[in-house]
Amino acid sequence: MDDRILIRPYLPDDAGATIDIFLRAISEVSSKDYSPAQIDAWAKVEDRSLWAERRISRPAWIAEIDGEAVGFSDLTGEGCLDMMFVHPEFQGLGIASRLLSEVEERALKLGFARIYTEASGTARPFFERKGFRVITRQTVEKRGQSLENFLMEKLYAE
Ligand SMILES: CC(C)(COP(=O)(O)OP(=O)(O)OC[C@H]1O[C@@H](n2cnc3c(N)ncnc32)[C@H](O)[C@@H]1OP(=O)(O)O)[C@@H](O)C(=O)NCCC(=O)NCCS
Repeated sequence: MDDRILIRPYLPDDAGATIDIFLRAISEVSSKDYSPAQIDAWAKVEDRSLWAERRISRPAWIAEIDGEAVGFSDLTGEGCLDMMFVHPEFQGLGIASRLLSEVEERALKLGFARIYTEASGTARPFFERKGFRVITRQTVEKRGQSLENFLMEKLYAE
């Protein structure tokens, strides 16, 4: 585990950095699992204000290394882990693991019996490694392209 990684709550000023991480993670990492047309359809943020509103509407966390935002995640009131993205230059350092620990800690505090996520093919092995199981494989439409993802959940003992 890289001890430079700091996890802190998301702040409104983080919107731009999270958009950058989101776009780069898809274009440079998930691009190995999806076609160029699918990546093109997915790697877009057309409404930056809507993005910023969504991020502050729920608990969310930023991972930082040396003061730079390098990853982010969140947890909705329904127990959905909606976002898990790590900057392409900081893959494999344990950043998503640290973010997931934070998400799980919050879920347990809130008394959730489960967390679920719609994982990309790229993130599926990560979530499996962390104890999530695939409920179903599904196809979602994004800007005219069909993309496969995996509805996954992790159950917690009551
Ligand atoms: C999936 C993602 C979030 C993982 O982030 P990360 O910080 O590199 O993950 P970690 O370093 O914490 O990895 C934790 C474990 O999962 C494993 N893992 C992570 N990604 C993996 C992959 N694509 N394939 C196989 N194993 C993977 C790691 O090897 C590590 O295993 P270990 O415990 O044996 O060391 C990151 O690759 C990413 O941003 N992907 C692109 C964006 C994306 O698809 N996000 C999900 C949208 S739903």
